[in-house]
Amino acid sequence: MPRIAVIPGDGIGIDVTREAVKVLQVVADVTRTTLSLDEFDYGAEKYLATGISLPDADLEKLKAYDAIFIGALGDPRIPDMAHARDILLGTRFKLDLYVNHRPVRCLHERLLPLRGKRPQDVDIVFFRENTEGAYVGIGGIFKKGTPDEIAVQEEVNTRKGVERILRHAFDFARRQGRRSVCMTDKSNALRHGGDLWQRVFKEVGEDYPDVTSFHLFVDALAMQLVRAPENFDVIVANNMFGDILTDLGAALQGGLGMAASGNIHPGRHAMFEPVHGSAPKYAGKDVANPIAAILAAEMMLEHLGLAQAGDLIQRAVVGAIADEQVTKDLGGRLGTRAAGDEIVRRIRALAG
Ligand code: NAD
Ligand code: IPM
Ligand code: MN
Repeated sequence: MPRIAVIPGDGIGIDVTREAVKVLQVVADVTRTTLSLDEFDYGAEKYLATGISLPDADLEKLKAYDAIFIGALGDPRIPDMAHARDILLGTRFKLDLYVNHRPVRCLHERLLPLRGKRPQDVDIVFFRENTEGAYVGIGGIFKKGTPDEIAVQEEVNTRKGVERILRHAFDFARRQGRRSVCMTDKSNALRHGGDLWQRVFKEVGEDYPDVTSFHLFVDALAMQLVRAPENFDVIVANNMFGDILTDLGAALQGGLGMAASGNIHPGRHAMFEPVHGSAPKYAGKDVANPIAAILAAEMMLEHLGLAQAGDLIQRAVVGAIADEQVTKDLGGRLGTRAAGDEIVRRIRALAG
């Protein structure tokens, strides 16, 4: 029986996780699967009340689960994001979840923001390096608050870290019969890290002669993704560029309310979450789109080997979008709860 740890987190993370949990429960019910879901209250409220974010001992407990589900983290009362860094980046880094898998698929014509394109033109899988780069927190501030102050923020690229994400992207492309892998960087300006990424990309690519590999500088890629998304299949990037490009990718699939992700160390641990944040202005207002979280739950089920359950979710979501039974960001009129109920209803109907 798969055991899942659920951390709703902050803001709309709480609203959308409620719907994703509802969907997980119903899909488990109709496919006669037992899922155990244990909820944890890590987040801004707990941190403000107790100073506890996510202690290492608690992270050890999370390791015992088959998967972790996170809503979103971020609260205006904690402007330095201290708790979110511990909980979100802590999970990614300390469990060494080096693959950030962010699929970008446009599920319906109405969601496509580009003129002259078809939804099938947007079908891209991003692999974002998830454990190093500019996110390692190495650096500091010298002479803080004086006119001479200096802020240093280092970027770390290790041979091991670069190679394992590149290999993962190529393995995925081969397994899924995808045409190409595009590696993106800024090696024309950032010479040292770029040099390593370029060399390893070439080397690893030689082991996959059946997959076309090509490179684009990240600025050019941002432009090309909007101009001709049909030219892209699998894209692999460092932590920072992957973060930025996948918000652009979210826009190609109908907005942040549609974008799901998995944070994975293959064969070890995995955490699933929507790409969006806690959107504080919408928190608790029953307006957030729950689909990104529901599709993250679908990715989690597939990861757990429950493909049939995942497929039911996917078909229910596509149906709800086609019939405009969705939230306002997608052009519908439903609130968060009603949009979740709609998907639950469709799963039951599809399962007969
Ligand atoms: P955000 O993703 O929370 O929201 C940006 C905008 O996108 C929103 O104002 C809204 O218009 C739209 N949006 C996002 N999710 C939506 C949904 N489910 N339905 C409908 N519209 C949606 O980004 P932000 O405003 O830059 O960040 C808010 C907080 O969240 C910050 O504290 C930030 O650091 C944090 N954050 C957390 C995560 C995470 O937990 N993984 C990701 C991104 C941002
Ligand atoms: C994301 C978010 C996080 C990131 C923030 C909240 C630290 O933007 O998951 O995309 O940059 O990884
Ligand atoms: Mn982001």
